[in-house]
Amino acid sequence: MSDSGRDIHDIHDIMGLAPVIPVVTVEDPETAVPLARALVDGGVPTIEVTLRTPAALEALRRIAAEVPEIAIGAGTVLDPRQADRAVDAGAGFVVTPGLTPSLLRWIGEAEVPCLPGVSTVSQLMEALEQGITGLKFFPAEAAGGAPYLRAVGGPVPEVTFCPTGGITPSNASGYLALGNVACVGGSWLTPREVLAAGDFAEVTRRARETRQLAPTA
Ligand code: 3PG
Repeated sequence: MSDSGRDIHDIHDIMGLAPVIPVVTVEDPETAVPLARALVDGGVPTIEVTLRTPAALEALRRIAAEVPEIAIGAGTVLDPRQADRAVDAGAGFVVTPGLTPSLLRWIGEAEVPCLPGVSTVSQLMEALEQGITGLKFFPAEAAGGAPYLRAVGGPVPEVTFCPTGGITPSNASGYLALGNVACVGGSWLTPREVLAAGDFAEVTRRARETRQLAPTA
């Protein structure tokens, strides 16, 4: 359960908060709080901080402590140890790029919502056997894109996806139009150069633009 104060019970609640889960790589922990506030100001109350930099855990701590209105997740979680560290730092949900047996066990016992990544139908079936019905589809564009997800929705309609990897403002609506896509993930709201320049107004502007990502027919 998230510490964020939001009414979040499972991963489907988080997937429904906004059309996009911003995937953010934080280099400088000083940027963590202003960028999280910038996303909230732009109407995107969710964030995935990737565990790819030394600043990531501190960023999670600061956002969890100072921006209670955002649902904060940890991304690029590769194993249960990293997942535990992220949750200890304040992550209210956990995102993984793939699924391993140890991560599947961790998810089964976890007290926080998880969004594990899959890219094949067999991985999807393994997840479903564990009762997991909200999945990241990663790397979305490289692994088959929207046509792949449309095809998977036939035999496995009960799974809802957050495609991530190669998503842009240009192709996001094509995913969001699918019945088995709740949201997309992407880094375009918080590019490295924008964060390095401290241009949080630009983050808010990009977040506001996601309102136009209404599903297309
Ligand atoms: C990543 O791997 O960093 C995330 O999946 C985001 O991918 P993107 O940079 O293509 O949006």
